[in-house]
Amino acid sequence: MDRITIRKPDDWHLHVRDNDMLRAALPHTAKNFGRAILMPNLVPPVCTSAEAAAYRTRAMAVLPEGSTFKPLMTCYLTDATDPDDVERGFKDGIFTGVKLYPANATTNSAAGVTDYKKIEPVLARMEKIGMRFLMHAEEVDPAVDVFDREAVFLERRLTPWLKSFPGLKFIVEHLSSKIGVEFVRAHAPQVGASITPYHLQLNRTDWLGWGNRPYMYCMPVIKSEADRLALRDAATTGDVCFFLGTDSAPHAVAKKLAVVGAAGLFNAPVAIETYAQVFDEEGKLENLEAFASLNGPRHYNMAPNEETITLARESWIAPEEIKVVGPEERALIYRGGETIPWKVVG
Ligand code: DOR
Ligand code: ZN
Repeated sequence: MDRITIRKPDDWHLHVRDNDMLRAALPHTAKNFGRAILMPNLVPPVCTSAEAAAYRTRAMAVLPEGSTFKPLMTCYLTDATDPDDVERGFKDGIFTGVKLYPANATTNSAAGVTDYKKIEPVLARMEKIGMRFLMHAEEVDPAVDVFDREAVFLERRLTPWLKSFPGLKFIVEHLSSKIGVEFVRAHAPQVGASITPYHLQLNRTDWLGWGNRPYMYCMPVIKSEADRLALRDAATTGDVCFFLGTDSAPHAVAKKLAVVGAAGLFNAPVAIETYAQVFDEEGKLENLEAFASLNGPRHYNMAPNEETITLARESWIAPEEIKVVGPEERALIYRGGETIPWKVVG
């Protein structure tokens, strides 16, 4: 198969930041995707429905003319989130879901949850109104090894919630481990998971085995080859519980290369092409549409996009970086300079 037409994909996990970076980053997603869930970990975070409505307006304002792209908004969960505001935002069509960041788990998560007891009223309300719960599913207890954070979170936090909130639908964001794949399969359809391009392509030897490569550093961290293979199998079988979420997360070069470097890779300019390559390598191109365009809407109880895109086996070289007006200057692109074997041609 050298050419494939699929319904327009959606990105169920995307960071585009704000201001200058938003202007530079969002058009790369709007080009090929119908919708994307914009993550709320701005500085300061998007915690209320009013803040989310304002952020959505800023996002719409940077879209190219005539774009049909639709940003979907999330509420940044804190110990103090008001269930009434969450419900109002959901019913008014502002919030698509609520996003959990355990405090200090990743970039801009300092305002995240510290006391899981305090968020139970929000979870109960979401269960009642049919709203989705998106989780940065990592345990931040310092006693837990960074490679085990996902597995421990699933056991320690998510397992009890599945019983306490049986009507609530969960999303394990950026699924990164074999244990996680098995967990999601066992608990579908209550649980779904988004999978990034880089967790499908990289293992920790790529990241650390030949020099430290800060542009492979993200949270959850890249794991072993066995984990990568389990994720490739999960994504490419077309199982309804797994769907596309790039976690594309641009950072200024200076932040990536600092003594304490920022987690996150900017993959939007090569995202759908990279997924297509992975599905092709696995001989599963026929399942790309399910993963990229059907399973996500189904988990969110939305209709799939009507528009289509066409990908062809046609090589091109990924640009190295995007320029950002203002102090952030530029952000490097995941796979920049590499030959990409699939191209969006229509
Ligand atoms: O690597 C990551 N970067 N993981 C996250 O969870 C957040 C993201 C970011 O915002 O940069
Ligand atoms: Zn993310």
